[in-house]
Amino acid sequence: MIGILGAGSLGRLWAATLPVGRVAFIARPDEPTGTDLSYRFRPVKGPETTIRIPFVRPGDEPGLILVTTKAGDTVDAISGVINRLPGATPILLFQNGLGSQQAVAAQWPHHPILAASTTEGANRPDPDLLVHAGSGDTWIGAMTDPARACVDNVIAMFQATGLKVHQEPDILQRLWQKLIINAGINPYTAILDCPNGEILASALYQSTIDDLCGELSRLMAGAGQGEKSPEALRHRIEQVARNTAGNTSSMRADVLHHRRTEIDFINGYLARLGNELGIETPVNQMLTERVQQLSSP
Ligand SMILES: NC(=O)c1ccc[n+]([C@@H]2O[C@H](COP(=O)([O-])OP(=O)(O)OC[C@H]3O[C@@H](n4cnc5c(N)ncnc54)[C@H](OP(=O)(O)O)[C@@H]3O)[C@@H](O)[C@H]2O)c1
Repeated sequence: MIGILGAGSLGRLWAATLPVGRVAFIARPDEPTGTDLSYRFRPVKGPETTIRIPFVRPGDEPGLILVTTKAGDTVDAISGVINRLPGATPILLFQNGLGSQQAVAAQWPHHPILAASTTEGANRPDPDLLVHAGSGDTWIGAMTDPARACVDNVIAMFQATGLKVHQEPDILQRLWQKLIINAGINPYTAILDCPNGEILASALYQSTIDDLCGELSRLMAGAGQGEKSPEALRHRIEQVARNTAGNTSSMRADVLHHRRTEIDFINGYLARLGNELGIETPVNQMLTERVQQLSSP
């Protein structure tokens, strides 16, 4: 059985696509587990169905844990349940950005910790409805040494979902690629309150993107993530912004719904890394502070 920690959009997507009877949600330590979680599932294609997922109960021993909390909740969420799991249970992290994955791997280095980067899209327009908004790809790779031997088995457990799941030998590099795109699009959409494509013509974007891409390029090199010119990074960011022009980023959606954003794990992570590496990051810092101000209570 696969246990899912974090019954939000992404957790419910995996639960809805895994075979019935082989998946359960993991409750918070103080949360009741007696009643199944039930919701409507609207797939990309095909009719809406109703999904019922039980909770992991005492005595159940999941063979894999998917962690689908927001990045800022991840270490606390795992801390709350890890003592109830056998030490060899693989834990697969689905968080966007960077920083939370390294924090989990550093806290539990002897545990098989894996990370995923996914371009699947899921949202909940109302609490009882899960919409699979777009199909994508998911890459999975090891974050700790004990996880290396588990990657094939873990991927095999996703076979029945029908979703595209691949092995990634260098998952950090894959997460970095997504981080760069998120860092160059998401904060602008949140600050400007606009869909992805509209950032490109804005004065804020036009006046800061070259300096931001310079910071990103130096940070990548400093972190051993390869040499990419600022121009190449800008080109990539703008390609994605144009391809997803009408989309609302998760950061903008979080601000609009008064939820905490993941800025501390995107531009905030890059600013902290710059501090460690002695690389100046004024644009990452400015974007982080402006988004933090938007989402502070
Ligand atoms: N949604 C997507 O399409 C998508 C795609 C790619 C990557 N991601 C990444 O996946 C992660 C999850 O995203 P999401 O959209 O699914 O977020 P979400 O809808 O906010 O789901 C997170 C869930 O975790 C729960 N949670 C928080 N603390 C917990 C704890 N201690 N124990 C158990 N559950 C806890 C939350 O419950 P409460 O609401 O009760 O706090 C919420 O149900 C993020 O890092 C996101 O960037 C999402």
